[in-house]
Amino acid sequence: MTDEIAENWSWVEGVESRARSYARRFPVEFSHGQGSELITADGRRFIDLLAGAGVQALGHAHPRILAAIADEQAPIISSLDLTTSAKVRFLQTFLGVLPKSLEGDAKVHFCGPTGSDGVEAACKLARRVTGRRGLFTFYGSYHGMSQGALSLTASRDARRAGLDARMDVTFCPFPYPFRGKGAWSDPEAAIDLALAHVETLLEDDHSGTDIPAAMIIEAVQGEGGSIVAPPRFLRGLRALCDRFGILLILDEIQAGMGRSGRWWALEHADINPDMMVVSKAVGGGIPMALLVYRKEYDVWEPGDHIGTFRGQHLAFVAGRAVLEEMQESNLVDRVAQMGSRLTQRLQSLVDRYDMAGEARGVGLLQGLELVGRPGLTASEASRTVQARLFERGVVIERGGRDGATLRFLPPLTIPETTLDQAVDLLEQELARL
Ligand SMILES: Cc1ncc(COP(=O)(O)O)c(C=O)c1O
Repeated sequence: MTDEIAENWSWVEGVESRARSYARRFPVEFSHGQGSELITADGRRFIDLLAGAGVQALGHAHPRILAAIADEQAPIISSLDLTTSAKVRFLQTFLGVLPKSLEGDAKVHFCGPTGSDGVEAACKLARRVTGRRGLFTFYGSYHGMSQGALSLTASRDARRAGLDARMDVTFCPFPYPFRGKGAWSDPEAAIDLALAHVETLLEDDHSGTDIPAAMIIEAVQGEGGSIVAPPRFLRGLRALCDRFGILLILDEIQAGMGRSGRWWALEHADINPDMMVVSKAVGGGIPMALLVYRKEYDVWEPGDHIGTFRGQHLAFVAGRAVLEEMQESNLVDRVAQMGSRLTQRLQSLVDRYDMAGEARGVGLLQGLELVGRPGLTASEASRTVQARLFERGVVIERGGRDGATLRFLPPLTIPETTLDQAVDLLEQELARL
């Protein structure tokens, strides 16, 4: 690092909020990105396995996105919820990739530009539709940082940081056999137990829990540590929702848009959502969040969930470019193939290194959970590996319980050789541990 760059980094540290997080783990000054690489102001190249927390589906500086942004003549950069030509074109393309069960039956609500606001909108609408207040969410879930979304987020640290206006939320178990106690450590038993738990809450009129308006779930938990919801579990929840008149909201903010190797992660379980929240990759790197729901639930009054930044031209054109590029290049199929390969490679690490506890995930949303050994906790181990990988040119994030899971969330376009190189480096670091 040159003196000037080091000074810049310290200067930003001095003026930016202490809440910033990624910058602490990756303390350099990035100047640009290219495909699957982030490049620093002094020319160091990093393999990017974080991709803006899953935003950069096509990698950095994809020519099609740059061209889409540059092409437009005199755009209306910000248009509230007015109808604009860019919005029309985006919507036409977006409707074409929705799950089959929503085809021809979907309404799209443009939310404020973060995923959290999409989650807020989903909860508000579910309450309005059902006339009930409660919401069920799941252990390990991450739904965002605004008060409503944070109420649904499981991490104690995140909640401790400032959850004052709790919603009426019940946390239910999500099968996670790797850390399961007793019968919960058996994958099939964990599904039975988790479903029985929810069923009992609903069925037992002395459970102390009212029938909720909705359940919200990630079909693959991202921040929770790349944990896939077993299809049988999701189907069981769907059946319970049907039986008790509860809406099922799929949070596809991280796992959607092809990342799981299907367009939508819920498609692995073949379930029909009542609502879906979409954000991150859908705007091609420009903020955008969408709530998609069945037409029968469109009970908003005009103005019921509004906000200034809900008509961002650049997000419409960049988002449409991403969707078209993904369709034309069959990117989702490629993600499925790359994902199988990554699963095999991570599994082989589990087979060979004691500290590699479990390889999990699907598509390009995967993780390797480390375990501790005497004198080194799982959390310390993953932090050490993360720091060493960074020294060697890899940006990788940790997540899940104790931050013990090293998370693979690269651009969906990452070349096989680049991904291999990153796993090779990870293997070397595990060997060193
Ligand atoms: C599954 C899921 N839901 C909601 C959110 C919140 O989105 P945002 O950070 O844009 O508010 C995230 C962000 O990581 C997420 O992964």
